[in-house]
Amino acid sequence: MQVGFTNDQMEKFIRDNLFSDEVIDTISENMLPIESLMAYYRCAIMQVETKFKVLDEQFSLQYDRNPIETIKSRIKSMEGIIKKVRRKNVALSLEAIEAEIKDIAGVRVVCSFPEDIYLLADCFLQQDDIRLIEMKDYIKHPKESGYRSLHLIVEVPIFLENEKKMMKVEIQIRSLAMDFWASQEHKIRYKKNIPEDERERLAVELKEIAEEVAAIDGRMSEIRARINSPEYQEQVNASKRNLVFPFSGPIAREILDSIEAEEEDEEE
Ligand code: GTP
Ligand code: MG
Repeated sequence: MQVGFTNDQMEKFIRDNLFSDEVIDTISENMLPIESLMAYYRCAIMQVETKFKVLDEQFSLQYDRNPIETIKSRIKSMEGIIKKVRRKNVALSLEAIEAEIKDIAGVRVVCSFPEDIYLLADCFLQQDDIRLIEMKDYIKHPKESGYRSLHLIVEVPIFLENEKKMMKVEIQIRSLAMDFWASQEHKIRYKKNIPEDERERLAVELKEIAEEVAAIDGRMSEIRARINSPEYQEQVNASKRNLVFPFSGPIAREILDSIEAEEEDEEE
């Protein structure tokens, strides 16, 4: 026997039972802690972003270069949280979700060069209000897919009206080249309607591309190290000194003096 409801009956049932003041009050009461928790995660993201922006600014002052290209942040969607609760069999309480789902707040820091990744991670982790929970180095040990990045799970304090609360944030630090690969691979991986055998071939090819991208990243770093080396700078200065100036006389002397004065200003 099939018990069926017409649409009208279903709508009447919902209006009479689920739209009651009691149900609305219960939903609001239960939503409040979830909304507060999400607000705390947003605050934690702001703290982490600010810390990286400050580091970038400091490097800019001290070494005249900005190691960070971009910072992107996101809060995991409700759908994403629920799927992870199901997959990891997390208990259905906010406390359990907060303790076990460590990537509700995510910050991705993209650097120009691979060596900046460890430099930034070190400077960030040295700060005395940051607590490192977990570090996964997918640069030294890339994932099977070819994926490379440095992942940190940290706890960062947020200061509420009367208390300090430690919030977990997942930080992914990667180079521009690593980010390029991960974004493209993500787009391809989530493309629907790719037959299984083609998917396998793509995985092999994407892994090969990951190796090539890593090699290019390495070459760029070598070039940077070379042009920043004291030997290279010395060569550049020597070739400037050896420039044969084709004129002589008071005007030429004046020009030469002004070039030298400018160079001294730059060095200061
Ligand atoms: P999750 O439960 O999925 O978060 O896995 P996990 O806890 O083992 O975390 P993991 O260290 O694998 O990192 C997860 C995050 O890293 C993902 O949400 C992606 O942003 C990124 N990631 C990990 N592996 C890959 C990959 O093969 N390709 C791409 N594009 N991103 C990846
Ligand atoms: Mg994740």
